[in-house]
Amino acid sequence: MRRWAGEHAAPSDIRLWAPDGLPEFRPGDDLARILAGALTDDPNGLIDGDVVVLTSKVLSKTEGRIVPAPTDPDERDALRRRLVDEESVRVVARVNRTLITENRLGIVQAAAGVDGSNVESRELALLPEDPDGSAAALARDLRRLTGVRVGVVVTDTMGRAWRTGQTDVAIGAAGLRVSVGYDGAVDRQGNELFVTDVAVADEIAAAADLVKGKLGARPVAVVRGVGHLLVDDDDDRTDTPRRARDLIRDSGSDLFRLGTAEALAQGREQGRREAVPGRRSVRRFSDEPVPAEVLADAVADALTAPAPHHSTPVRFVRVSGAARHRLLDALRADWEADLRADGHSGDILARRLARGDLLRTCPELIVPFVDDSAGAHDYPDPRRNACEETMFTVAGGAAVQSLLISLAARGLGSCWVGSTIFAADTTRRELALPASWRPLGAVAVGVPADPVAPRAPRPAGDDYLSVE
Ligand SMILES: Cc1cc2nc3c(=O)[nH]c(=O)nc-3n(C[C@H](O)[C@H](O)[C@H](O)COP(=O)(O)O)c2cc1C
Repeated sequence: MRRWAGEHAAPSDIRLWAPDGLPEFRPGDDLARILAGALTDDPNGLIDGDVVVLTSKVLSKTEGRIVPAPTDPDERDALRRRLVDEESVRVVARVNRTLITENRLGIVQAAAGVDGSNVESRELALLPEDPDGSAAALARDLRRLTGVRVGVVVTDTMGRAWRTGQTDVAIGAAGLRVSVGYDGAVDRQGNELFVTDVAVADEIAAAADLVKGKLGARPVAVVRGVGHLLVDDDDDRTDTPRRARDLIRDSGSDLFRLGTAEALAQGREQGRREAVPGRRSVRRFSDEPVPAEVLADAVADALTAPAPHHSTPVRFVRVSGAARHRLLDALRADWEADLRADGHSGDILARRLARGDLLRTCPELIVPFVDDSAGAHDYPDPRRNACEETMFTVAGGAAVQSLLISLAARGLGSCWVGSTIFAADTTRRELALPASWRPLGAVAVGVPADPVAPRAPRPAGDDYLSVE
């Protein structure tokens, strides 16, 4: 619906006051009767369309949400921490010694609203259990007692992410719209206001705090001039947000569900868990170049892989330019000879050979080796020498897998292919490397052309045995 913003026009004048002389509220007090008397006796009176704003501490007191507390600072602190824990369903952030938590109502604030201000020194206050419900009951009772239709806003004081200082916000509301959406409205310059959704109940709460204050024993204020926000009980339009609860972001639209440290910790934990399944064989790469330092860093990670008897037998060779063409041509010639010896020819042969194109087209090519002369033990018998070779081979495999995981963690794709293992002499010859260097395949590296989906862990089944 296209509307002129005039429909949302703010009143040009509002008034607000906080009556003096309200009693200290205690559990069981008839709040509605006390307020009806005080507000109608006030020289400003109470008229249809007024909004009565009261600090939630009043409800905490009248509804018996006050907990006896020791005066000893340590014991008091311990009780406070236990109450915060009980009142919270989720820790959002820990800032020094303060916990920011979400309570059962979904309200996110410091210490779950457990508060020692404006209560006796032997007490702590908890937030009312159902501030929206309490607000509705108060609005109904005030109407019954005074004949006046008012809105009610229940407030609490909160800090704001990204801004210093606190303001009052609405944690309970009844009888009025809590927000005014401008979606589709057009300003005088013809600009459409897509995302503006003004939390008017919070604005009323903050404005009322200007006259209530925190120290003046004035926990209740009346705001006059916002009657256009009032909603009748029998107005059953479902698109009219009228509970303070409607101002709480649901978890789906809450982009900041965690504090910075908590989000980083969760990210690290998730990153650790996804490191291994996040590596997949990538066979299509974008043209984007791979920064040399990123490749070098991934290789440095890979070289930390475990190896037998403190040896460092793994080598990685970055093959590029003319050397790459030479190596790949020679590997292809070897492979073609093998395939022809197997009896392949024509299309089938060409198709098989085309699989090697991956190594020609990938942005970077790394050939891993294990060097048997780098610390392998020499035994008097062939059996143990063969075992030693196997140890070096598996150490090389561990390093290659580490390389692939490190590349994946840096957003790079890779595919480990076996080709050079079948053409070790050719590989050494083309790259002019010593005879003790055994190639362990080749790794194509690049920025993946398509998103890489981590593999779901494979249930171990028969591949994971337990022998006792
Ligand atoms: C020693 C070795 C040799 C491989 N050779 C090839 C190859 O020649 N061509 C290829 O496309 N993939 C090759 N692969 C990759 C496997 O096909 C791949 O790891 C497997 O399909 C599992 O997929 P994933 O890596 O995405 O989890 C090789 C993998 C290893 C460990």
